[in-house]
Amino acid sequence: MKKILSYTLSLILLMACSSKPVTANRPMPEVIDSAFAFAQRQALLMAQKYEGQEGRLPRSFVDGKDKSSDSRWWCSGFFPGTLWYLYENGKDEQILKYAQLYTDRVEREKYTTNNHDVGFMLYCSFGNGLRLTGEERYEEVLLTGAKSLATRYKENIGLIRSWDHNKENWQYPVIIDNIMNLELLLWAAAYSGDSTFYKMAISHADKTIEHHFRPDFSSFHVVSYDTVTALPHKKQTHQGYADSSAWSRGQAWGLYGYTYLYRLTKEERYLQQAVNIAEFLINHPNMPADGIPYWDFDTPEIPDTPRDASAGCIMAAALTELCGFVDGERADKFLNMAIKQVKTLASEEYTAKQGENGCFILKHSTGAFPLNSEIDVPLPYADYYYLEALSRLKRIYKEK
Ligand code: GLY
Repeated sequence: MKKILSYTLSLILLMACSSKPVTANRPMPEVIDSAFAFAQRQALLMAQKYEGQEGRLPRSFVDGKDKSSDSRWWCSGFFPGTLWYLYENGKDEQILKYAQLYTDRVEREKYTTNNHDVGFMLYCSFGNGLRLTGEERYEEVLLTGAKSLATRYKENIGLIRSWDHNKENWQYPVIIDNIMNLELLLWAAAYSGDSTFYKMAISHADKTIEHHFRPDFSSFHVVSYDTVTALPHKKQTHQGYADSSAWSRGQAWGLYGYTYLYRLTKEERYLQQAVNIAEFLINHPNMPADGIPYWDFDTPEIPDTPRDASAGCIMAAALTELCGFVDGERADKFLNMAIKQVKTLASEEYTAKQGENGCFILKHSTGAFPLNSEIDVPLPYADYYYLEALSRLKRIYKEK
């Protein structure tokens, strides 16, 4: 009761005090500071809202109603991760307390072996927590999680299996999103000294370059491998417009994946892959002028179809890192695209009002359009990668 009362009071207070609007025309350092200040207040409201709901984590806000999940949902690590980015940038003790509390809610996922999402769940929550606090307990969680993820790797195929459903259609499905989970394996290799984790990550990354990408560097969503020949037997989509289309978030996962793979391995082929994906995305004729993609680059309904802010956030987070790995005009091009995307996201069009939007920071993401699920709603991964992009931009402006 006390918690509900304190949440309601905070909500009323925050809605009453007019916060300075974040607009796209202000100087970038101001946009960044303002976006962080807003995000911190909004995330505190979110944290207070779910504090008394044991084990629950924010999932979305649909038709005016909160949607939460337990830790099993693939997005469970994103809200704790959002809090860690806020703590990193604001050093607020209340935020730290909530970052720890919500991170602990995800711990049981270290035993997850029935899907590949354990990387998303644990690396965004415990991974950031370890990076920022050095908490030793988090190391065990991450290592156990990496071992669980590794059980999904089959030596003769050389990839981690993403999903177990739809067995009558897919023998061994691997989705482009899976490239994001390798960071946990690379952490485990460095931490434990066991090179098996490293070899798995490299094999998965190389085979994904070989089989997931088209000549223009767009990617398929699902590639299913024949378990006998270890070659693709199907290339399809699940969340995109068509098997042959460029599903926006999938393209962004690929860009982000090969960018961090280059950071952690220094293998030039990963840098080249990330650069090629970035060029494909930035130069795409269907990329809107404000930098936030529609949910699929090839849907014939453009421009009368929803955007996917989450794809814009993931792209911006990746580009703010990738721009540091290339030189000259290319570095400027990547950084300028990320700046444009973040300015758009920080505008009133995309940033919610304090206390609204289910206390999520950003509006207008699309989870799975063809499945009629989570269309034009807030999603926790949009907020997470937006804050990562803001953090990286803050560092870049500090160094300027
Ligand atoms: N990894 C699931 C998605 O991007 O929707």
